[in-house]
Amino acid sequence: MNHQAHKLETLFGEQSVSKKSKTRFIAVTSGKGGVGKTTISANMCFLMAKRGIKTGVFDADIGLANLDVMLGLSPQKTILNLLKGDAEIADIILPIDKNCFLVPGESGNEILKFGDQFMYDRFYSEIEKLDFLDYLILDTGAGIGEHITMFLHAADDVIVVTTPDPAAITDAYAMLKVLSAKKERIFLLVNQAQDDLEGERVFERVRKVAAANLPSLKLINAGSLQKDNDVAKSIRSRYILSKEAPASRASMKLEKVIDRILNVMERQMLERKEDSGFNRFFKRLLNQF
Ligand SMILES: Nc1ncnc2c1ncn2[C@@H]1O[C@H](COP(=O)(O)OP(=O)(O)OP(=O)(O)O)[C@@H](O)[C@H]1O
Ligand SMILES: [Mg+2]
Repeated sequence: MNHQAHKLETLFGEQSVSKKSKTRFIAVTSGKGGVGKTTISANMCFLMAKRGIKTGVFDADIGLANLDVMLGLSPQKTILNLLKGDAEIADIILPIDKNCFLVPGESGNEILKFGDQFMYDRFYSEIEKLDFLDYLILDTGAGIGEHITMFLHAADDVIVVTTPDPAAITDAYAMLKVLSAKKERIFLLVNQAQDDLEGERVFERVRKVAAANLPSLKLINAGSLQKDNDVAKSIRSRYILSKEAPASRASMKLEKVIDRILNVMERQMLERKEDSGFNRFFKRLLNQF
């Protein structure tokens, strides 16, 4: 066993170096910034891990990473070290909790130098070694930038997050339009709603426009989360709300969101005898060139 395989096995157990390729990738994205992607990604990772699902969250907001700060962590090494070639994936991945892992991203300009094929070759050849994960959540930046679309097209499923703000809805729709060229289905999650009714109304509004203009797209309602002081406080104080307050309204609602998403994804996995996780991921990546 090579050095890295040994290290992964020590960190995460025997299964970590198994050849069972099965990781599913869920990208969390939005048209407009600041709608709650990072908050949702971090809390989802924790709640899925609590169900016994091995889940990683990768800070894929290239150049603007802040998931580590949100989690109150200061990683020694990040994806930048991996791209520079002075770290391997086993050196940068951090256990956050039982079954829950962070792949730290990088903020700053230096990483933008790697915005070429090299970045993807290096990144994907390394991330393949995380195949012990059941799910990897990709917390992306907002909008339709070059790096972001790569991650989105390569993910098994995409969650587009919006708020009821009309500008956010317009940008979310623009995102759906771009993604619908590659994705059969997309989840829409309404965050910071006043109540369930507002969440439903926002979904319905987007669904109608999408049905009229993007007929091939299956838009799935992932549910809604309310604007909530507990959430805002957890971000300010850098703790994971779902961990500290699993019975809070926001945590319970996010559990429902996860139920809906996993239900759809797992049903499909049972229905279709698909390629392994990383094979599918690479095939989709290659199809983009
Ligand atoms: N449900 C919520 N209730 C109250 N505040 C929220 C909620 N969701 C997110 N916020 C607040 O919105 C702000 C932005 O959240 P977050 O950083 O998760 O958004 P983002 O979409 O990742 O932003 P960016 O596009 O900059 O990456 C945070 O200050 C957070 O506290
Ligand atoms: Mg973010």
